[in-house]
Amino acid sequence: MSKNAFLEGMSRAASSVSAVTTGGESGKAGVTVSSMCSVSAEPPMLLVCIHHQSPACQAIRNNGVFCVNMLRHDQSSISDLFAGRSDKPNKFLDADWSKGLTGAPKLKNSLVNFDCHLVAEYRAGSHFVFIGGVAEINISEGKPLLYGSRLYGHPSYFDKENKIDDP
Ligand SMILES: Cc1cc2nc3c(=O)[nH]c(=O)nc-3n(C[C@H](O)[C@H](O)[C@H](O)COP(=O)(O)O)c2cc1C
Repeated sequence: MSKNAFLEGMSRAASSVSAVTTGGESGKAGVTVSSMCSVSAEPPMLLVCIHHQSPACQAIRNNGVFCVNMLRHDQSSISDLFAGRSDKPNKFLDADWSKGLTGAPKLKNSLVNFDCHLVAEYRAGSHFVFIGGVAEINISEGKPLLYGSRLYGHPSYFDKENKIDDP
């Protein structure tokens, strides 16, 4: 099985987009992910998968905390910034941040902040799977930024008038 075929297939999987951030003794770092998903509701847990060479990966392992900042549909520039698609050296200057309970940077005005303690990690090939125990959640109004076919999407699909099961 070729890596390219795998990546091509996965590019069709539409997803939400989050800037995963960490802070603490090992400093601040952040990376854009589409790999966030729910793991458990009781207790609340989620996972993210991050490439082992990403500076954010080692920082999360060292700090033991991370915050999943799920982006709103009008925040694709923040996604690009945290995906290294900008020449700005400091990813944290362009938006308003506060500190979560865990100490991880929390993006004000994102759709949802899931502030997490790292409760488990698992190396799977090129990536680390990080399981976060959610310590605090903030939810704002808005719609999610979507990503699929290597493009950002506006979630008009989620408007009530577009419900596909309407008669
Ligand atoms: C929409 C989107 C989703 C991404 N999802 C992931 C992901 O789930 N895991 C990951 O390791 N990298 C993911 N990436 C790639 C990283 O964001 C990017 O390669 C990395 O941040 C490189 O930049 P850096 O060197 O500044 O950290 C994604 C990129 C984009 C644009």
